[in-house]
Amino acid sequence: KKRILSGIQPSGTLTLGNYIGALQHFVRLQEEEECYFCIVDYHAITLPRNVEQLRENKRKLAATYLAVGIDPEKATLFAQSDVSAHLELGWIMITTSYMGELERMTQFKEKSKEAESIPAGLFTYPSLQAADIVLYNATHVPVGDDQKQHLELARDLAQRFNQRYGETFVIPEPMIAEFGARIMSLTEPTSKMSKSSLVEGSYISLLDDLKTVEKKIKRAVTDSENEIRFDAVNKPAVSNLLTIYSSITNKSMAEAEEHFAGKGYGALKTEVAEVVVDMLKPFQEKYEYYYQSEELDKLMQHGAEKARKVANETLQKVRDTLGVGFTN
Ligand code: TYM
Repeated sequence: KKRILSGIQPSGTLTLGNYIGALQHFVRLQEEEECYFCIVDYHAITLPRNVEQLRENKRKLAATYLAVGIDPEKATLFAQSDVSAHLELGWIMITTSYMGELERMTQFKEKSKEAESIPAGLFTYPSLQAADIVLYNATHVPVGDDQKQHLELARDLAQRFNQRYGETFVIPEPMIAEFGARIMSLTEPTSKMSKSSLVEGSYISLLDDLKTVEKKIKRAVTDSENEIRFDAVNKPAVSNLLTIYSSITNKSMAEAEEHFAGKGYGALKTEVAEVVVDMLKPFQEKYEYYYQSEELDKLMQHGAEKARKVANETLQKVRDTLGVGFTN
């Protein structure tokens, strides 16, 4: 069995990109593998957050995980901040990191560009992410393409620690799908679909009203040809729509291309909108239920207890390996 860990930041409503690049894989993986899925709220505070909003976003994300079909009987679903071992090992991974490698992280470079003063936590963010992963001895980490660099760093840190102190951590493998790991903006198909975009029509929020979803997809840009085929370089917009279609219907890209052979862009958009709406409709109903329910709080507590057991065991070993503490 593989050991899977992945995390999502509670920083707003998730997009179709988060679903296709991450959540959809989580749901599939829980059937076969030992899975840990995390709401990384300590990562979310690396940029200043409004407290009420964080509370809401945390609950939204928990409800989203449950409504897409994460089953707390099959997978361990928990909040990072409920398992204090993340921060302890996070510090240890910071001590294992070099300034130079953290400075090279593109996400850090981008986010610090916008900040007036750069928060230190934004800088050490990837070290905490590495701790999240090795704490559960994860063998595989399913993520979208934008996390690739962070995962390479996580591997480097795990390896460095093992070299310094002796075999301790499993070296995690990224799991990045060939298609769908980078869902693009609907209006500007050379940039990533992101909820922080200022152009509303560029992304689909999982909580968008279904009429709006349809409208956004119908207004998506295409290109001046009329042939539906996958070519991310020359036809990024059409390729993105094809990717959305194939990911949600679970068809291969070849099957998707075949399905649309000879059809026009109008038909492509209609069918993409259809499959997205069909996926979102039951999701949104379950979401409403979970968001309001007390069951959600119980499930998150239960998940935290399960996660703590595994995490604390790793942390004990690491403390011992490092020679710190008197009460191991
Ligand atoms: P976050 O919260 O930004 O994104 C959550 C997941 O969604 C993927 N994703 C996308 N996939 C395809 N197309 C897109 N347009 C798109 N946008 C986002 C992301 O790649 C990610 O898999 N640092 C992480 C959170 C994290 C983590 C971890 C992940 C913290 N600790 C440990 C894995 C393991 C982040 O900010 O993801």
